[in-house]
Amino acid sequence: MDLIFYYLALTYICFIGFKILLELLVDLFGVLTWRMTPYVPSTDPVCRAMVEMANLKPGMKVYDLGSGDGRLLLLAAARGAEAVGIEINTYLVVYSKMRALRSPFRGKVRVRWGNLWWARVADADVVFVYLMPYYMAELKRLLERQLKPGAVVVSNAFVFENWAPFNEDKDNGVYAYRFPPQA
Ligand SMILES: C[S@@+](CC[C@H](N)C(=O)[O-])C[C@H]1O[C@@H](n2cnc3c(N)ncnc32)[C@H](O)[C@@H]1O
Repeated sequence: MDLIFYYLALTYICFIGFKILLELLVDLFGVLTWRMTPYVPSTDPVCRAMVEMANLKPGMKVYDLGSGDGRLLLLAAARGAEAVGIEINTYLVVYSKMRALRSPFRGKVRVRWGNLWWARVADADVVFVYLMPYYMAELKRLLERQLKPGAVVVSNAFVFENWAPFNEDKDNGVYAYRFPPQA
């Protein structure tokens, strides 16, 4: 009996160890190849400041690149915008889709499972970003290649080098840029 117990305990420990190792390897692979950033949700005051700065109007097309649990999408949809999230983490995609379905704005929120570095945002009126400082240069190139004149980019925490924000909220660390951005 003791032997069976030890055998089962050992099997369980090996399984958990293997699972943790696998998740670490997937995360490492993601960071190195898909340039993933960790999930750190914007706080409620920051979300409100971001949506406020975007000056959303009904019918506007809004993207959140790395949409996390979908909180910005829901706030944007509540203002009448068509909100699209692009998120690489499958758990967060499922969670935010369920959140959207349970909300009154289900028809206005879409969450796509995908890599934001391959995103097409040419039709965006507003793009929300909250990534990492070392990705800002590449993000800047992605946005410059695609965004139309008049589109607004609202960044939580990190600034774009050589772009002058047209609006900023230093208390919440939120910066808004309009295309084509002034140097
Ligand atoms: C700092 S969190 C911001 C979440 C949300 N935008 C917010 O402000 O609450 C960054 C999010 O981007 C996602 N992410 C990281 N790398 C990504 C990639 N390459 N493609 C798509 N999503 C990515 C993460 O899973 C995470 O949910």
